[in-house]
Amino acid sequence: MSDTPRHPFLHGLSKHRGAPPTVVVIFGASGDLTARKLIPAVYNLSHDNLLPADFHLVGYGRKAIPDGEFRSLAADAIKEFSRRELNGEVWERVAAHTTYVAGGYDERAAFDRLAQHIDGIEKKIGRDVQRLFYISTPPSVFAPIIMNLGASGLAAKHLGTPLHAKVIIEKPFGKDLTSARELNGTIRSVFEEHQVYRIDHYLGKETVQDLLVQRFANAIFEPLWNRNFIDSVQITVAEEVGVGSRGGYYEQSGCLRDMIQNHTMQLLALTAMEPPGSLDAEAIRDEKVKVLKAIQPLTIGPAGDVARAQYGAGMMSGKSVPGYLEEEGIQPQSNTETYAALRLSINNWRWQGVPFYLRSGKRMARRVSEIAINFRRPPGTLFAGETARFDLAANTLSFQIQPDEGLSLILNTKVPGLETRTQPVKMSFRYATTFGSNTAEAYERLVLDAMIGDGTLFIRGDEAEASWKLCTPVLDYWRSVGRTGMDTYAAGSWGPPSADALLAKQAHCWRQP
Ligand code: BG6
Repeated sequence: MSDTPRHPFLHGLSKHRGAPPTVVVIFGASGDLTARKLIPAVYNLSHDNLLPADFHLVGYGRKAIPDGEFRSLAADAIKEFSRRELNGEVWERVAAHTTYVAGGYDERAAFDRLAQHIDGIEKKIGRDVQRLFYISTPPSVFAPIIMNLGASGLAAKHLGTPLHAKVIIEKPFGKDLTSARELNGTIRSVFEEHQVYRIDHYLGKETVQDLLVQRFANAIFEPLWNRNFIDSVQITVAEEVGVGSRGGYYEQSGCLRDMIQNHTMQLLALTAMEPPGSLDAEAIRDEKVKVLKAIQPLTIGPAGDVARAQYGAGMMSGKSVPGYLEEEGIQPQSNTETYAALRLSINNWRWQGVPFYLRSGKRMARRVSEIAINFRRPPGTLFAGETARFDLAANTLSFQIQPDEGLSLILNTKVPGLETRTQPVKMSFRYATTFGSNTAEAYERLVLDAMIGDGTLFIRGDEAEASWKLCTPVLDYWRSVGRTGMDTYAAGSWGPPSADALLAKQAHCWRQP
């Protein structure tokens, strides 16, 4: 098996991709993400026979948990969070090779124990295995874990062979440009870049991957994909949930760090990048970095390119919900935004003059993530003047990332009848209708990709830095002005007036998807 497939994106979740024998070690094994996403992902990969024959799962955490108890916690997680019901036979295949190692994240000796534990697995099965380390802990211990993986020799094990160690790092990748650079420095002191897989789970979503296929496997889009035909682009990642019990984390983060710097910027990069020379991970990531670097620095301050707000009390699905400042664990005078919107300009030949609007928020009217490409209007010479008869919309192509994954195009059409009247109609394609709805979750794809050595759907170090470079001045400014300029929006609405004002300057308005 070759270590790096030549066109990995083309191979897909196929049984022929063949991950080598692997031990996956999850740091933060008793955490929320492990239960909600990682264990169910491993289970579903097993269900689809996509795990290698010699697959071992090792949970690692500070709490001492006997192997049996870890296995039963994992089974409970599958029952509660997996897209498929727990099938005893399928789970047993994984459970029989699931163990747990207790240790601190900065405890050097515990990493030696982990190394011995994995050596023991190799001895038992009589062959070498690749080590895949999944760091799913709070960010404060990312660096100690990485350093200990280096000091214990785990990072360098089998380096130079196809079984070299790999590390997956969860978000948040830094909290600003300086910390992201520092973290990259720590990682590079221990791992080579090709061993590193920085997660942005949005890249594992089906529709996000389909964006590449739609753009580059169809001849009709690319000729129109530029400033001559596109008027503006809107990227929305709206959530209905509030901060819930994550107040402690969220107060340190806020929407710009939690959603904009990573998820929406990745969507922008895939939408706006130039066609890569190949589907090779590096070729795609080179193009993403290029376009991220071409974004003009934001104008910050009153009447600038950025809006922020906190949700106030409001109604969600007929129930009244509290405002952000009333939520558990939130400071009464909190300066943390639950909504952020940006107006970006990309300074290159393709996009000069086309605004890219990004927004994300919690407690918004509807859970929806989409990329909407708004085309220019045709010359108004024919169907013009009588607005009552000629109801014309700009053509909009929208990629609905979730829910109801699909693609739609707004076209103007003649209303049947003897009089010529026009009306915008929506032409839609829904994945669930065509392909059924039980598709793999993002984490299944991402864990398998890392096992196989395919970095296409992961963030490279320079990408993370390019995105932080853009966002950090905004964070610095917000910190310096405290709550000044913090807008509010009612829970259950589409966001604050200041975000509408960002678009009004160019006579645009937000879609209500
Ligand atoms: C995470 C954020 O990265 O993405 C959460 O930390 C957010 O705050 C989540 O709720 C949204 O992901 P999804 O896949 O539910 O859209």
